[in-house]
Amino acid sequence: MKKTIFSGIQPSGSVTLGNYIGALKQFVDLQEEYDCYFCIVDQHAITVAQDRLALRKNIRSLAALYIAVGVDPEKVTLFIQSEVPAHAQAGWMLQCVAYIGELERMTQFKDKSHGKEAVSAGLLTYPPLMAADILLYSTDLVPVGEDQKQHLELTRDLAERFNKKYNDIFTIPEVRIPKVGARVMSLVDPTKKMSKSDPNPKGFITLLDEPKVIEKKIKSAVTDSEGIVKFDKEHKPGISNLLSIYSIFSGETIEQLEAKYEGKGYGEFKQDVANIVVDTLAPIQERYHELMESDELDLILDRGAEKANAVARKMVKKMENAMGLGRKRK
Ligand code: TYM
Repeated sequence: MKKTIFSGIQPSGSVTLGNYIGALKQFVDLQEEYDCYFCIVDQHAITVAQDRLALRKNIRSLAALYIAVGVDPEKVTLFIQSEVPAHAQAGWMLQCVAYIGELERMTQFKDKSHGKEAVSAGLLTYPPLMAADILLYSTDLVPVGEDQKQHLELTRDLAERFNKKYNDIFTIPEVRIPKVGARVMSLVDPTKKMSKSDPNPKGFITLLDEPKVIEKKIKSAVTDSEGIVKFDKEHKPGISNLLSIYSIFSGETIEQLEAKYEGKGYGEFKQDVANIVVDTLAPIQERYHELMESDELDLILDRGAEKANAVARKMVKKMENAMGLGRKRK
């Protein structure tokens, strides 16, 4: 039997090169070998304020991007979280298994709540909902970028706690983080993660950026003044970031790239990085626009929700039985 994969992306803005390298690209590589569930986690997106119309648009756009990058809806189950009520139901039960202290220790919660006056309770209870996403499908493997590692550890803890306290019903999932590109960095501050919520759009490249914009952002990416194309995360974070991006897009190793650019300046190197990113994204953008104009998406998402509901509903029943909720039925 095939092993199961689950992963999700928030429809909370543009999809960045970080999302592509850390998550989407892995999904395409893994879909042949695994039984995959890929989710548009709109309930996670509302843990911070969202504009209603923009959220609706982003949900659709993210669905189209999943497919445009090569996720095959015939092979995987692609669906929207809020269309499968089991996620919220299981999320509540797991909130009752989680401790406030461990939720407060999550770095994402600390980052997103730091200095804010009004922080939603949902931001704190975000990880049990994420655990629900994963555990509902008896997931074996979760492909994510490095920033989600801590949430995955908590998911494993919650699953083990539930199994021990109530009934042994959950599979304990493993995390899968890519070897290169686990943390794509900002182009303006390469010591920070590339993030779609960065107020400065020069820091990130989105999958839908125009070629000219991509070129400009890469050419103005912050590097150093040494003039040597060499991977050294600590001393040369900007160049190392561009080398990782180049390596992932070209399939060449970092060593091969270092050799290729020996004695050459940053100008030529950056131009080549820009070219390969533009050339890779061009067919993705074309497919994206076709999908956004067709009715295909709704059919795919309807089918995905139906399949996900059938599996997730059964696990919610098992959880309720284990915890003693509701009535026993014959
Ligand atoms: P989100 O929407 O922030 O990001 C989606 C995926 O992209 C990865 N990622 C990156 N990878 C490398 N470099 C970066 N700069 C970068 N930025 C983002 C993330 O690691 C993630 O894999 N909590 C999740 C969504 C989620 C989820 C789940 C994931 C909800 N339920 C269940 C897996 C399983 C999140 O906020 O991802």
